[in-house]
Amino acid sequence: MTKLTDAPEAILLVGGKGTRLRPLTVHTPKPMVPAAGVPFLTHQLARAKAAGVEHIVMATSYLAEVFEPHFGDGSALGLHLEYVTETDPLGTGGAIRNVASRLHSGPDDPVLIFNGDILTGLDIRALVATHRDSGADVSLHLTRVEDPRAYGLVPTDDTGRVTAFLEKPQTPEEIVTDQINAGAYVFNRSVIDSIPAGRPVSVERETFPGLLADGAHLQGMVDSTYWLDLGTPQAFVRGSADLVLGRAPSPAVPGRCGDRLVLDGAQVAADAKLMGGTVVGTGARVEPGARVDGSTILDGAVIEAGAVVRDSLVGAGARVGARTVLDGAVVGDGAHIGADNELLGGARVWCDARIPRGAVRFSSDQ
Ligand code: GTP
Repeated sequence: MTKLTDAPEAILLVGGKGTRLRPLTVHTPKPMVPAAGVPFLTHQLARAKAAGVEHIVMATSYLAEVFEPHFGDGSALGLHLEYVTETDPLGTGGAIRNVASRLHSGPDDPVLIFNGDILTGLDIRALVATHRDSGADVSLHLTRVEDPRAYGLVPTDDTGRVTAFLEKPQTPEEIVTDQINAGAYVFNRSVIDSIPAGRPVSVERETFPGLLADGAHLQGMVDSTYWLDLGTPQAFVRGSADLVLGRAPSPAVPGRCGDRLVLDGAQVAADAKLMGGTVVGTGARVEPGARVDGSTILDGAVIEAGAVVRDSLVGAGARVGARTVLDGAVVGDGAHIGADNELLGGARVWCDARIPRGAVRFSSDQ
């Protein structure tokens, strides 16, 4: 089939296992975990639509069956969505190659590709324009980070052309740039077709360095707008709060941006305090005297009286007991935490776990 319009098509990579985000990703693939009241993917789809994209192919694998029942053919979002599922995960590059037959673009047309776990204010149209103007084979959104040690680095020359793809730097001398791959690309369609089919391929470790070695033109566009990789629980909670606060732009936040987002059917006691971009999901309950700051309370969860929940995520149907303190914690779906517990700094409570009253404390009293 040939393309009917000039709008660039897009591929969304949504098949990863999301291991760093467990237990949130035990029952739900990472892109479907709610952020600011809707599955995170909704924000990406809405932003792509706002940038003029019409046709999006989703590359699914882990828990693939949940995407289509939710988003259907995409018409509710004004998009045409298709789904392609890998029986065995093919990695980022393999997933891109695996959906090639669904694209309508010609060999020289630009195709947008997005990682499914990045929250960003990237100017998508500017990335496509950079791609066209530079005549590149592939263009990459690059962002600058304060501490580049945890990332692969992408140095560019003074015209923005990528000069290398460097592994995570081990020594200060290896930190030659603060630019990293931000997880959004434009590929010429013909480059997608050149990725080997039918086997796992990493676009970051194999495709990009291979293209560079073969003399292809890879262009970087540094856009230092809002950017967050929602791969860890702390980042996910931060991203959801930033969407609610309006710091991260999305046309899909259901309601006005502000200090809190309380979804229809949630109950919040009059003297409970919600702040810092907190979301309270449908059917969830926040009881008297509870204080919830910068946190996500998913559907049907209960925060009992006097509990304090800060920078944490409480899964669907979970329960946080009276006076319990959560700070930087994640509570899996259906877990029950009894009264008077303290769960701090990165604690992960697995789905359906039971923690008795006063069982975990960081203070010496009980
Ligand atoms: P971790 O397991 O926590 O590292 O997360 P992840 O599985 O999502 O991996 P990573 O963050 O590196 O993936 C980047 C993007 O590529 C995400 O949007 C993933 O959904 C997607 N992705 C990773 N591997 C695959 C794959 O094998 N197939 C498909 N279709 N998508 C993938």
